Amino acid sequence: MNTTAPLIIKNVHKTYHAENSTVDALVDINLKVKPGEFVSIVGSSGCGKSTLLKLIVGLENHFRGEIRLGDDKIKGTDVDRGMVFQEARLFPWLTVEENIAFGLVEKLSAKEKKKIVEHHINLVNLNGFAKSYPHQLSGGMQQRTSIARALVNNPKILTLDEPFGALDALTRIQMQQEVLRIWALEKTTMLLVTHDVDEAIFLGDRIVVMSSRPGTINKIIPVDLPRPRDRNSDEFVKIKKEIYAELFKEEQEFLDYVI
Ligand SMILES: Nc1ncnc2c1ncn2[C@@H]1O[C@H](COP(=O)(O)OP(=O)(O)OP(=O)(O)O)[C@@H](O)[C@H]1O
Ligand SMILES: [Mg+2]
Repeated sequence: MNTTAPLIIKNVHKTYHAENSTVDALVDINLKVKPGEFVSIVGSSGCGKSTLLKLIVGLENHFRGEIRLGDDKIKGTDVDRGMVFQEARLFPWLTVEENIAFGLVEKLSAKEKKKIVEHHINLVNLNGFAKSYPHQLSGGMQQRTSIARALVNNPKILTLDEPFGALDALTRIQMQQEVLRIWALEKTTMLLVTHDVDEAIFLGDRIVVMSSRPGTINKIIPVDLPRPRDRNSDEFVKIKKEIYAELFKEEQEFLDYVI
């Protein structure tokens, strides 16, 4: 695995074929993500955000164009690319530590596995909950567990598909800070899909704004603000306005209501 290689998405088109219909989910997507970069992706429902992440992770393999990590073409799933979903998707019959250990590559010894799991429990601040079952955890703690599970094989790239969508507003803000802390520690390249424009700006180095169906990239907005970011600063609000203007450019009448 090349840890200094960028993620390159080149001329990607994705069409879904159902029995008697076809859907153009992604059209001509081009994006280059630097190693260690944090990219947020926003766009209306159905514009192809989850599809894009699935292609990057290798859960969907039929598409036109090219996705590479440096020179290596992405083929199917691999431990170098992890994914966190909106719901934690934990195994209810396994404890926190067993859920985290579940995806660990086989060839490690029991001692090595234990050490890695412990490191990740600490990383997501779940000390003391290793033996708990998912139903004994809050929504935020379940999502921490799924982040730990996705990071356990030390992936080069972590994709997050609306990971905090099911959480209340306060927990959501805490989790955003947690993700920043983990990102700074682990230096994983992160691609975050979110409906929350504030979240996108708070976290991202750049924000990819997608158009509605068929999904294409309309604009890429850099966020040149030091972290931690002040959500009420003039610069932050200016970027927010720019994103909303892009998202609602075909529905100008809504713009006055959103900001
Ligand atoms: N497996 C599938 N088979 C057929 N069509 C699909 C499939 N998955 C997604 N689609 C279609 O592709 C388009 C993009 O879907 P996708 O899930 O990527 O959107 P999204 O941007 O993640 O939406 P949301 O914000 O609601 O999660 C939609 O029109 C959807 O109906
Ligand atoms: Mg989606």
